[in-house]
Amino acid sequence: YQVPFVGNEPVLSYAPGSAERKELLATYKKMYQEIVEVPQYIGNKIVKSGNKGEIRPPHDHQHIVGYYHKGTQEDVKEAINEALKARKEWADLPWEQRASIFLKAADLIAGPYRARINAATMIGQSKNAFQAEIDSACELIDFLRFNVEFMTQIYADQPISSEGIWNRVEYRPLEGFTFAITPFNFTAISGNLPACMAMMGNVVVWKPSDKQVYSAQVIMEVFKEAGLPDGVINMVLTGGAETAKTCIEHPDFAGLHFTGSTSVFKALWKQIGDNINTHKTYPRIVGETGGKDFVVAHGSSDAKEVATALVRGAFEYQGQKCSAASRAYIAKSIWPAVKDEMKKALDSISVGSPEDFSNFVTAVIDKNSFDKSKGYIERAQASSEAEVVLGGTCDDSVGYFVHPTVIETTNPKYESMVEEIFGPVLTVYVFEDEKWEETLELVDQTSDYALTGAIFAKDRYVLNQGMKALENAAGNFYINDKPTGAVVGQQPFGGARASGTNDKAGSAMNLMRWISVRTIKETF
Ligand code: SER
Repeated sequence: YQVPFVGNEPVLSYAPGSAERKELLATYKKMYQEIVEVPQYIGNKIVKSGNKGEIRPPHDHQHIVGYYHKGTQEDVKEAINEALKARKEWADLPWEQRASIFLKAADLIAGPYRARINAATMIGQSKNAFQAEIDSACELIDFLRFNVEFMTQIYADQPISSEGIWNRVEYRPLEGFTFAITPFNFTAISGNLPACMAMMGNVVVWKPSDKQVYSAQVIMEVFKEAGLPDGVINMVLTGGAETAKTCIEHPDFAGLHFTGSTSVFKALWKQIGDNINTHKTYPRIVGETGGKDFVVAHGSSDAKEVATALVRGAFEYQGQKCSAASRAYIAKSIWPAVKDEMKKALDSISVGSPEDFSNFVTAVIDKNSFDKSKGYIERAQASSEAEVVLGGTCDDSVGYFVHPTVIETTNPKYESMVEEIFGPVLTVYVFEDEKWEETLELVDQTSDYALTGAIFAKDRYVLNQGMKALENAAGNFYINDKPTGAVVGQQPFGGARASGTNDKAGSAMNLMRWISVRTIKETF
């Protein structure tokens, strides 16, 4: 098989005066003034309950851009029934027919829906245009197209046969329905999780984050326009805990695809275990959870490269990436230069609404998130073990704006070196150059998470030492680069330990979790 695509979707630059910038801004402005109504999608119905939740841009929290129609557990039950009704026909469809729908969806996002999905992400999730382009439009397009490429590989793999015997495997979807819970921070992840399961022939109940409903609706519109049959992906806008309970307690519950917090994932895992005797089949559990991602820089590394990696890795999308650099270990000999370079970079960036394309940082997602970052900053300002060396101002009068902040601490186990903040706050521990090996051990031992990490050094033996010492500390390990921005098809993404099941998003490894294989031996 040959899949009709050539690689990663080119990222548009949105250069000043460009047609794409004009189109995106016009779409943004129009959507900002309209009142959107986000419904649930259940079977062939677009459900508007009338019980409305507000959608307010985090960077302008007094402004309402629309409402989403909250559902009930009756809706979730109906979504499960609709999914199960659609199951047989969908599962029996040749995989190429399913794949075509998602290739078409990718083309729709690349073309007519590009500005709309980016604007929805900018408005609803306060991403700047460049981050939105990368991880709502391009990354979702890449997920869908590469998934098809991975499908060709998966479905082509067959066992050997011998004379008089024909062995074969039949790649069947899971028996029952699957359940996706998706986060606010990446529109692409939110579309990919239900898509992965559906592409492999499963039917899905999808519960997006309340804070991502605007762009989630665009994804549903695209899937529908691409020809996704009713009932294959059902989007419910219901409470997370109750929805999980309804799904997990159902005998036909066959799998959970989750991205979100570690504590929620652990609770769901336990709940699945508690219900194991009700399930017809052992449910598949795939989760990507938190991170406390490190950057460790040896004295031989280039200060400017380290500073750039820290600024981009820690502060792009306000640090709200599970992959964001949030604890850094910098050799004493280079720290003054790294700090200077970071200061220069941070002095030149601006913070504000995503509508102004020159703003590098916009608002964090909500009041809780704002208060959380502010709390860490204020405690550092008052602490004898820490000092706020860059940034440190917060203002939530119009939007939830937190300036990129760097805390320096003398305690490698200081709270912000250990706890996930999910905001634009980076903590640095400066180590004596000769204590490199002890520092590597510290990096490995400080966090329960193991999602991403980066090592900087020029010396190849030193790099190798780091590779070995940190072999279990990060599922995505970067050498001389920032720890964020994994590209689909290039860096399969996921972590272990408390960060998840490491079933690499953007790879065949993930898709294979959503099939149940029948092996057939036929004798002649
Ligand atoms: N894939 C994203 C990154 O690498 C995180 O989900 O930054």
